[in-house]
Amino acid sequence: MIRRIVAWLWPDTLAARVVLVLLAGLTLFHLGSIWLHQIGTDAALDTTQEEQLAEQIAAAARAISAQPADRRAGLAHALSTANLDLRWTAEPVLPAAPHNDHRIASLEARLGSLLAPDSVRQVRLGPTGSGDVVALFGPGSSHAIAGAIALADGTWLNLRVLRFASAAVSRHASLLSTTAMALGILIVGLFVVRNLNRPLRQFAEAANRVGAPGVPPAIMPEKGPREVRHAAQAFNRMQARIDRLITDRTQALAAVSHDLRTPIARLRLRAGFVDDAETQHAIDTDLDEMEAMIDATLAYLRGETESEPRRAADLAAILETLCDAAADAGHAVRWTGPRQARLVCRPVALKRAFANLIDNAVKYGGGAQVSLDADADTMTVGVEDDGPGIPEEALESVFEPFRRLEESRNRGSGGSGLGLTIARQVVEAHGGTLVLENRAGGGLAATVRLPRSLAAGDAVPC
Ligand SMILES: Nc1ncnc2c1ncn2[C@@H]1O[C@H](COP(=O)(O)OP(=O)(O)OP(=O)(O)O)[C@@H](O)[C@H]1O
Ligand SMILES: [Mg+2]
Repeated sequence: MIRRIVAWLWPDTLAARVVLVLLAGLTLFHLGSIWLHQIGTDAALDTTQEEQLAEQIAAAARAISAQPADRRAGLAHALSTANLDLRWTAEPVLPAAPHNDHRIASLEARLGSLLAPDSVRQVRLGPTGSGDVVALFGPGSSHAIAGAIALADGTWLNLRVLRFASAAVSRHASLLSTTAMALGILIVGLFVVRNLNRPLRQFAEAANRVGAPGVPPAIMPEKGPREVRHAAQAFNRMQARIDRLITDRTQALAAVSHDLRTPIARLRLRAGFVDDAETQHAIDTDLDEMEAMIDATLAYLRGETESEPRRAADLAAILETLCDAAADAGHAVRWTGPRQARLVCRPVALKRAFANLIDNAVKYGGGAQVSLDADADTMTVGVEDDGPGIPEEALESVFEPFRRLEESRNRGSGGSGLGLTIARQVVEAHGGTLVLENRAGGGLAATVRLPRSLAAGDAVPC
């Protein structure tokens, strides 16, 4: 549960994480230093305030006790300020009750030391909630303290004090400074992390391009901080090695495939001298199969799609021709789709891709249902069969070059394992996708989606 909450709070991007850590750390540090500073300032402020207040009260008490009784009430009123309310009465406003407020006790002690025992008899201070304070002064702030000073003649000078007026202001100020600091960190943090993030993004983009068909390799710029420069150099060296490895292997495979043609041609000649017609036919079939495999391998290695120019073609016609040819060859292949679906593409390459899919459906599924659905953005071609399908875990791996499933190998149905590789290569070169799925009722469904952004005309429904 806690882990889930933390995972939810913990942001996904590096920038947000760095800013969050910076913010949390600096806010804690800032709040801590404000707190320490506040304690020190509060103590100093309290002492100064207390001193001033005690002197003000003591001076008022001395001045009032020096006056005749009929002028005392008027003087008490005249000496009152916004922070200190004074009233002269015959009775004390506060009872002589103990309290445990150390600030009041400290002010009491200071007052006691300031007032000579001959001018006053007693000093009582306490919270405003006690005695008749409200009755005498009216309702007031809860931060107030009240007091009563017994003058030499037995009359009383009552007082009420408002304190801590500056605390709220300083709290506002610290809140403001914390917010300003957080905003500052946010802006600076985002700026710094964006800069740090840039090489990471470039790495991700460059790595994505490694080995992608038809995409030139991305060379990382070898600049920036030392760590980034080193990483970029290592990445570029790695990419060069991969490139060389692929080129070497490709050339070796292409050379072998190509050189096999000569012994195959010789074998074919020699097969002509075999007397037994059945054996001769069997040898010829095997040689045909070998030649087809070599052709497919060479086509794949040359990346045939790249050389063919783009032009407007009718995808519906291409598919219908393929289906008719397969049906003529005695296979159960059905076609449904619009009469026309024009698309700017490389038609020879696309035809090869769909031929490979239909060939698979016929070879492994016993027949094919081919459909075309053209909407405003996409042309969707489905090639479905009722065969055994492909185990879920192999649905992606069958696209790898020369990958054939075990049962296909055992069946001896020929094939080089390049049909799907080439089909996907062609479809992706057109900006489309090819996915395989097992159908709910059994069999395989190959779905090709081609973007219509290059379409030159609309499909005409049947
Ligand atoms: N419709 C399908 N039903 C069942 N398995 C299939 C189907 N299509 C492909 N496969 C499996 O995927 C493997 C790879 O297919 P792919 O077309 O790439 O090669 P291939 O058909 O063996 O040879 P090639 O197409 O080069 O002649 C096949 O060997 C087969 O095992
Ligand atoms: Mg195939």
